[in-house]
Amino acid sequence: MATDLKRIALLGATGSIGRQALEIVDGHPDLEVVAFASGSQPLDELAAAYDVEHFQVGGDLTELLEASEPDLVLNAVVGFAGVGATLWALERGVTLALANKESLVAAGDLAIAAWKRGGGLLLPVDSEHSAVFQCLEGRARETVDSIVLTASGGPFRNRSRADLESVSVEEALAHPTWSMGPKITVDSATLANKGLELIEAHYLFGLTYERIEVVVHPSSVVHSVVRFRDGAAFAHLGYPDMRVPISYALTYPERRATAAPALDFTAGMTLEFEPPDLERFPLLELAREAGERGGTYPCAFNAANEVAVAAFLDERIGFLEIAPLVEDALAKVGGAPARDLPELVEADAGARRVAEGRLAAA
Ligand SMILES: NC(=O)c1ccc[n+]([C@@H]2O[C@H](COP(=O)([O-])OP(=O)(O)OC[C@H]3O[C@@H](n4cnc5c(N)ncnc54)[C@H](OP(=O)(O)O)[C@@H]3O)[C@@H](O)[C@H]2O)c1
Repeated sequence: MATDLKRIALLGATGSIGRQALEIVDGHPDLEVVAFASGSQPLDELAAAYDVEHFQVGGDLTELLEASEPDLVLNAVVGFAGVGATLWALERGVTLALANKESLVAAGDLAIAAWKRGGGLLLPVDSEHSAVFQCLEGRARETVDSIVLTASGGPFRNRSRADLESVSVEEALAHPTWSMGPKITVDSATLANKGLELIEAHYLFGLTYERIEVVVHPSSVVHSVVRFRDGAAFAHLGYPDMRVPISYALTYPERRATAAPALDFTAGMTLEFEPPDLERFPLLELAREAGERGGTYPCAFNAANEVAVAAFLDERIGFLEIAPLVEDALAKVGGAPARDLPELVEADAGARRVAEGRLAAA
């Protein structure tokens, strides 16, 4: 019946999350895509295949959202480009399925204020945050002690610092457990991704940074853990497969079947955990510091990291130059809170200028 349709705006339709989201949509006739967006890839064929009238390559995502009037926005754009769409959905109380962690990191305070005003649902798609969200469901907030975000450790978990000096782009893109877009794959190799997730978790779950721990868990089977005040800890387990959190966000509050295989405990699975090495992977700690300082420091962290990752992918800098570039930008920006989106855009641009300046001088 038409009234039961969930109208979805799929932003970042051509990406890793976008394509997997379409797989979920294909399996459920009550999920209807009403808008597609990409950054540069053409969308004509996809729009024709899904009979979608509203689609846009680049440009202002909020215009697309205004025109298509979705019930749910799946923000699977990569980077700061997703900020406008996140704020649009939160402000209007339109359900936001959020994969684009950079928008919540950069615009955290503005986003939370918009979410409070809009009063809609904010459903995390990041597997760790979806896991925490599910472990928290139905639990009183005062019973929560802390959360533990798991990190695979990336492809360079066992590499020495000397080795990291010369790792190639190709090696950084060979993630051991997840198949993802290039930017997040490099972020996973530097642990900046876990830093972004730490800040994302702070905003999503309203927890102070001392109550959010990060541990390395190479097999990525435990997606995250919530510790409660009575000593109990709830974990969310499954093989690494983004279709699970995407499906949960798109079909929430139901838990529909997916094509993801069931966990097999007889297949020699080991669950190992170790603390992250902050010396070899300093971006995690830089993110924590930026988060604790607040204001637009998280925005600057994200902006400088985006510049540095793009430069690494273009082979303009080496792997070990990513973190110093971000550290330098954080030392030079003012970090004053942004009162509105234009001020945030200026903070983002300012941090990018600092990072670009350092790149040009190198
Ligand atoms: N992949 C994962 O498993 C995973 C897991 C957790 C969280 N995430 C998060 O999900 C987001 C997407 O990741 P991904 O791996 O799917 O990245 P991806 O494969 O690189 O895809 C990025 C998508 O964003 C689009 N895009 C880029 N700039 C845009 C713009 N200005 N306006 C509209 N669309 C734009 C791209 O379009 P073009 O194809 O035209 O460039 C593409 O569709 C990231 O924030 C990432 O951190 C991903």
